[in-house]
Amino acid sequence: MVDFSITDFLNEDEKYIFNILVKYFKRNNIRAYVVGGSVRDTLLRTPPKDVDIAVEGDVQFIIKKLPLIDKVIYHERFKTSSVYFKNGVQFDMITCREETYAKYGSLPEVYPATIVEDLARRDFTVNAVAYDIINNCLIDPYNGIEHIKQKNIKKIKKDSYREDPTRIFRAVRYSVRYGFSLEDEEEILRCIEENTFSSISYDRIMKEIVLMAGEERWKQNIYECFRLNIMKSSENFLIENKLFLKDCLNIRLCSIYRILNDSNVKNIFKNNSMLEKSLKKAFREYDRVEIELLKCRDNSCIFNLLDKCNVYHLILLGYNKNLTYKLLNYMNLKYNYKEIKAKYILELGIEKGRLIHDIIEEVKRVRLNTFLEIDENYLRNNIGEILNGIEHKNT
Ligand code: CTP
Repeated sequence: MVDFSITDFLNEDEKYIFNILVKYFKRNNIRAYVVGGSVRDTLLRTPPKDVDIAVEGDVQFIIKKLPLIDKVIYHERFKTSSVYFKNGVQFDMITCREETYAKYGSLPEVYPATIVEDLARRDFTVNAVAYDIINNCLIDPYNGIEHIKQKNIKKIKKDSYREDPTRIFRAVRYSVRYGFSLEDEEEILRCIEENTFSSISYDRIMKEIVLMAGEERWKQNIYECFRLNIMKSSENFLIENKLFLKDCLNIRLCSIYRILNDSNVKNIFKNNSMLEKSLKKAFREYDRVEIELLKCRDNSCIFNLLDKCNVYHLILLGYNKNLTYKLLNYMNLKYNYKEIKAKYILELGIEKGRLIHDIIEEVKRVRLNTFLEIDENYLRNNIGEILNGIEHKNT
């Protein structure tokens, strides 16, 4: 018996389901364990994000017989499942497994195993403590409890970071989140120098960056990445965007992207299937538009350039103080600008076709640069001058 209660941070609905599961596992002699973050966080006296249960045996078969199941999403590749119960509670349930890596950075092959073997394939000692549901005790083969007390992130397997380089990001994330030190810092630095990340896909790296950016202490995560040379930066600080105050994941990613200094990591931001299309488009076009906008000398140039940009692009440009007035100007113009209707031009006897489009564009240019109120009367009285303007532009 241990002085540890895994249900301390569960809400009433979760406790209800958990107690039903305990009875079910006991009655059917199923070896089941709470594992990973939920044990770590309960030991740290902080509410866990989710509950992971590992069973020895075929999880898919065991789940089929559980009471109160609403829905199950099962992933055969890693024999993991998300189980949704009728009262809205969700637990993750997995088959205890062993892992082998064909080569560094590849996804592992998995085989059903015992809890001891399952703990051996995990990332850090602090994540390899299991709570034995049947025997009500903790299993701690790698001294994880002691390392939690010592505030230390420490790998389990010799080649852990090379086999799965995403663990470097995970180590940073946990060390920042809990204020733990990185026991393996020297090895991590060596791995980064040897370009370990080249063995994994852009998507897997981007997923880790997104997880970092989603944490409460996200800026510290990114500074740690700079310190460890995982990313390089042109500036020391992630500044707030004065024009767009809302704090959300995509805006955080914009502020990170803006100060990145290495094309490798920039390419990861631009070419992945993790992020929204419009965000990636903004990353791809940011440099070009920034240069063009710096050169713009009149309102219509600013308007035409920025009107093709999406909101993330405007946010990225908003970090450059030299462009603030041009962005504010654009927003003001955008808010107040109404295009002249084609029917007024047709009423002047101009035939349908390219010329109508050219007149609309010319009126827009004059209007944006002079703030003249251009209505149908103005158009009627000045059509000759407008046509001259177009002709002049085309010669
Ligand atoms: N794990 C691992 N190696 C990885 C990813 C996960 O060994 N590359 C193991 C760890 O034991 C981890 C568990 O799988 O505790 C669950 O992973 P995850 O849900 O990502 O992390 P949590 O520990 O639950 O932490 P968080 O609070 O960030 O969700």
